[in-house]
Amino acid sequence: MKLRSVDSHLSDVRKSIAIKMVGLVVIGLTVSLLPTFTWRTAAFDTREVEPQSRRPSNRAKSSASKKPRVDYSRFAHSTHVNQAQLKCDACHLFPTKNWQEVRKGDAAFQDVAEFPEHSACLNCHRAQFFARERPAPLICSNCHVKVTPRDTTRFLFPSLGDVQDSTRPSREFVSEFAINFPHDKHVEIVGSVTRKNPSSFVSVSWTSSKVPDDAPKSCPVCHQTLQPQGTSDEEYIVTPPKDLGDKFWLKKGTFKSSPRSHTVCFTCHNKEAEVPPLPSDCGVCHQLEKTVQNLKRDFDPKSAAPMVAANKIDLEIWSRRISSGTFRHEGGEHPNLSCLNCHNVATMNTTDKKSLVVAVKSCGGAEGCHITATSDDGGILNFEIDQKKENSEFMCSKCHVTFGSSPAPATHPQSIQSIKKP
Ligand code: HEC
Ligand code: HEC
Ligand code: HEC
Ligand code: HEC
Ligand code: HEC
Ligand code: HEC
Ligand code: HEC
Ligand code: HEC
Repeated sequence: MKLRSVDSHLSDVRKSIAIKMVGLVVIGLTVSLLPTFTWRTAAFDTREVEPQSRRPSNRAKSSASKKPRVDYSRFAHSTHVNQAQLKCDACHLFPTKNWQEVRKGDAAFQDVAEFPEHSACLNCHRAQFFARERPAPLICSNCHVKVTPRDTTRFLFPSLGDVQDSTRPSREFVSEFAINFPHDKHVEIVGSVTRKNPSSFVSVSWTSSKVPDDAPKSCPVCHQTLQPQGTSDEEYIVTPPKDLGDKFWLKKGTFKSSPRSHTVCFTCHNKEAEVPPLPSDCGVCHQLEKTVQNLKRDFDPKSAAPMVAANKIDLEIWSRRISSGTFRHEGGEHPNLSCLNCHNVATMNTTDKKSLVVAVKSCGGAEGCHITATSDDGGILNFEIDQKKENSEFMCSKCHVTFGSSPAPATHPQSIQSIKKP
């Protein structure tokens, strides 16, 4: 299939959409009564209303009976990478030709900033690209917002998590990939990274054998405190109800951000610096999740919603918490502690979420803090364990949103024991 004819096919598709739109007015009623069209229309409508979950399981459900019907509105990498054995670069170009447009001036860097082109699909999906579906073939909606003859807007490619573009909406999705970022290999080399002079930075830091400080300078390059309270008097993101009492309400400065684009990674991992993985080696950093880890989350979507003011990023981070849903980075003494007191980056594996659990013993800190040798010394963990012993219905709510209603795991009394033995 030559590129030229691909293009002409497209304008055909475009024309045929236009014809269909006109045709609709005339034969709309008749067509919509045909069963083949009704299901397709229904599928299309659902997709517009629902936030799009990209998990293949969603697809499987509706097609349990008879021959499974493929949902061409939900692209799955597992089908294409595992089954069809396609390499990432069979579809994703690097850099895409728009890289200088999406970020301007000094901020611009060679990036994958656009969806794959039609030519990456047509060899296998001619039938779907020319399917008689309205208002447009289902397959278009993986990349395009609507596709009408007048509106061929595409979503913002999701790697542009740091770019705002009022003309292109972002699509909600659950990534099929986990990010592979070996922290232990980076702690010493990532310092104050600047895009202007990345290569000299790499060589300088690479030869330096300085042991990292107790509190590594590198962490804030990629993780910042979100919505910090700073010197403001307002503790909360959303004003709590008047009758709150001592119930939990989310405060500012609770969460830390994580990278949402290639901006930091490609400072070093680029063609010039030649630090592998190269930016075109997508699959080294993005690894298809082999098994969906059903970890328990210390999170409750219902109670969370009114506390975050529809902030999707907050909700996403909160819903990933697996140790302590109420922990606030900006709270009390926390900002004065080294990140490494609580996050053991040497054993963290970002593709295995279990390894990211923050151990309860880190709540003891050097001075005891929340864990003390005896309850009389005032440790909140001691107090809550005592309460739980007296009344199994007791909710441990200092550190937890939902976990506090279960029995305390062995790690909790153990952490008190370890304080007793000096
Ligand atoms: C058959 C073509 C094709 C291949 C091969 C392919 N992709 Fe994609 N990729 C797409 C399309 C189309 C989208 C946009 C639709 C979507 O988001 O699922 C996409 C979106 C993505 C996204 C954002 C969505 C998400 O789930 O996180 C990432 C990341 C990604 N691709 C990485 C990769 C990597 C890594 C590989 C190789 C292991 C790869 N892709 C191989 C076509 C492909
Ligand atoms: C080498 C052939 C091949 C290429 C190239 C290819 N696909 Fe597919 N695709 C398949 C196969 C095989 C299936 C399984 C269902 C079927 O047989 O149609 C599939 C299924 C799909 C589905 C249904 C959901 C899923 O992923 O299982 C979508 C959507 C899809 N492809 C979109 C695309 C898009 C968009 C591109 C281009 C970026 C593309 N495909 C490129 C072979 C291919
Ligand atoms: C895998 C993602 C993907 C899918 C699926 C897809 N497109 Fe596109 N489409 C693109 C990209 C990327 C461009 C821009 C190509 C370029 O700039 O060279 C584009 C451009 C177009 C254009 C030209 C618009 C312009 O402003 O120049 C039309 C028309 C179009 N697509 C229609 C469709 C239709 C109709 C379908 C479904 C049958 C479809 N596309 C499916 C990614 C996709
Ligand atoms: C160059 C960027 C970079 C630096 C520097 C960095 N990280 Fe990360 N960190 C990441 C990425 C990427 C992830 C994976 C995020 C994801 O899965 O989406 C991550 C994940 C994490 C997580 C788990 C987040 C979660 O969602 O549960 C913690 C905790 C963390 N990092 C702590 C640290 C600490 C502590 C330091 C300093 C020693 C540090 N990071 C330095 C990029 C970085
Ligand atoms: C006193 C302990 C403590 C300290 C110090 C600490 N963290 Fe955390 N951090 C936590 C806990 C607890 C969580 C929640 C983990 C969970 O439930 O999955 C967390 C979560 C995170 C996350 C995931 C996003 C989020 O907010 O849930 C990142 C990223 C992170 N920390 C980075 C850092 C960095 C960078 C530092 C140093 C500047 C730091 N942390 C200092 C205890 C700490
Ligand atoms: C300051 C420069 C720098 C930045 C920024 C950086 N890296 Fe690296 N990265 C390196 C170097 C140097 C190595 C080689 C380390 C080694 O082999 O021990 C490396 C290695 C890697 C490896 C391969 C590790 C292995 O086991 O071979 C991965 C994956 C990786 N980086 C991902 C990332 C991601 C993801 C980001 C952004 C969140 C990032 N890097 C940001 C310098 C950097
Ligand atoms: C050096 C590591 C690295 C390489 C190489 C890399 N990425 Fe990424 N990518 C990241 C990190 C880190 C993020 C931000 C974390 C996040 O959004 O979850 C990201 C985010 C994305 C996103 C946003 C959606 C998502 O899943 O979160 C897309 C899409 C994406 N990358 C596609 C690609 C494609 C396609 C390639 C190959 C051309 C590629 N990346 C190469 C590290 C890398
Ligand atoms: C000072 C903070 C703190 C207090 C108080 C606290 N926890 Fe935890 N809890 C944690 C942390 C951190 C973790 C994750 C790591 C661990 O277990 O070491 C955790 C984990 C858990 C888990 C998940 C265990 C698992 O394996 O999935 C449960 C359930 C739990 N706590 C219940 C309780 C109960 C019940 C109480 C009251 C008796 C309580 N916690 C008091 C900090 C606390």
